[in-house]
Amino acid sequence: MSVAKKEYKRITVKTLVDMKAHGEKISMLTAYDYTMAKIVDGSGIDVILVGDSASNVMAGHETTLPITLDQMIYHASSVVRAVERALVVVDLPFGSYQSDPKEALRSAIRIMKESGGHAVKLEGGKEVKESIKRILNAGIPVMGHLGLTPQSIYKFGTYTVRAKEDEEAARLKQDALMLEKAGCFAIVLEKIPAKLAQEVAESISIPVIGIGAGQGVDGQVLVLHDMIGMTHEFHPRFLRRYMNLYEDMTTAISQYVDDVKTKDFPNDEEQY
Ligand code: KIV
Repeated sequence: MSVAKKEYKRITVKTLVDMKAHGEKISMLTAYDYTMAKIVDGSGIDVILVGDSASNVMAGHETTLPITLDQMIYHASSVVRAVERALVVVDLPFGSYQSDPKEALRSAIRIMKESGGHAVKLEGGKEVKESIKRILNAGIPVMGHLGLTPQSIYKFGTYTVRAKEDEEAARLKQDALMLEKAGCFAIVLEKIPAKLAQEVAESISIPVIGIGAGQGVDGQVLVLHDMIGMTHEFHPRFLRRYMNLYEDMTTAISQYVDDVKTKDFPNDEEQY
């Protein structure tokens, strides 16, 4: 059992800030359904992100843009029913917060009320500052997300590393400071140079959780289906696979198909 698992019965936004202050790294994974969330929570994860990556992983869309607020609420409520310890953060999907702060607040309230999630995450810097403030004023914790922000993929054009140039790096640093000042409890930094991510993490007191952002940050997040090897066609450099579930499942299912065809299954003990 990990130190964190022993020390904290229930993870809150305050726990995460305390973890950073004490130099304890934060572990975060995605989950989108009850069964997976139960396993992830029971394994001692600190934060479960109901990411809009559900759009890719669960629904097979090419981008995160199509997933709706109703669909995010469905995924998040399934996850919340399973979780006893982790902090559950829910992504505000594309189109639910960008047009104006009032809409952003309405969307965040729906997530909190209808799913039982503990916080929301949204992508962007100064362009979403007013929305963040309005959500925070309603007492809803907000996690920021900078760097590669997949909801803007059509603006970027590619999923390559962000903020390699000085100008974008400087903008990212300013945005991180702004998010801290506005009252966000943490920030995700996605696919940026490790040195820049470390500089950001050292310049603010709220936790910085990286994905493809190196080891100098305060915690790490991965998409669960990637780290357990279910999504075998996706292999970015930052991804460490802990299992090859695609292969294991394919072997098991092929065996089942054979057993049915050859009448090996069910046997005498497997029937009434
Ligand atoms: O939606 C998601 O899974 C995310 C993570 C990649 C951070 O935002």
